[in-house]
Amino acid sequence: MNKHYSRILILSGAGISAESGLATFRSSNGLWNNHKVDDVATIEGFQRNPALVHDFYNELKTEIQKAKPNAAHLAITKLQQEYPAQIDVVTQNVDTLHEKAGNQNIWHIHGQVNQAVCLNCGHILETWGDVDTQTICPQCQVMGMMKPNIVFFGENLLYMDKVDDALRHCDLFISIGTSGVVYPAAGFVQTAKYYGAETIEFTLDQTANNYLFDRHVYGKAGETFPPFVEALLQDIKK
Ligand code: OAD
Repeated sequence: MNKHYSRILILSGAGISAESGLATFRSSNGLWNNHKVDDVATIEGFQRNPALVHDFYNELKTEIQKAKPNAAHLAITKLQQEYPAQIDVVTQNVDTLHEKAGNQNIWHIHGQVNQAVCLNCGHILETWGDVDTQTICPQCQVMGMMKPNIVFFGENLLYMDKVDDALRHCDLFISIGTSGVVYPAAGFVQTAKYYGAETIEFTLDQTANNYLFDRHVYGKAGETFPPFVEALLQDIKK
């Protein structure tokens, strides 16, 4: 690479959290293995059986709360602290490992598991406790209208104004641990490339949109991403 970048966008997916012990979505023992996607990740599923959906995310929340960030998350912190560029972290992950690692400028485009949104008044409730069909919104006091603040299939992504700006202005687009299957996020690389960014992906398996990346680094992100950060930091000294 040997270049100085002024704006870097890091897109993360479930693969970055795999080494922290959290299941990815599409692996053989994936997160949805025992559940139908339609039941736990669509708005129709939530309307059909909100109790089941709350149970699913309450369980996931407990698991996520115990997880610790790994070397890939921590390398992002180092990059943000030591590399003189604006660096945004756009994550599809609903876990909070980027925050736990001390990353900054994190945009949870698919929501986050420790939040619920009131469908009556829009209030966002931050909690690591259980949320269910009996939960009362602390703002409007209506019961049974809280939905996990997870972007279900068919819903709009969050923070797209921030993401659009970063996609148009970044000169380096880094993807870590995402299969490139789920749109719109799978299309971000195309936009960044169109506006002139270099593109690189860190993944274990071949991704669906791999033809859009200039470089591919195969392996566990906890092992491959920290040396890449070191190389970027060396480059700015040249
Ligand atoms: P996937 O499960 O589809 O893909 C995980 C990717 O991470 C794969 O390409 C793996 O090869 C790679 N991977 C696994 N372990 C890795 C490791 N240790 N280091 C590097 N890469 C590794 O997960 P996502 O692409 O994140 O949405 O899935 C996208 C969205 O699908 C999720 O955000 C979720 C689901 O719909 C919501 O929950 C709203």
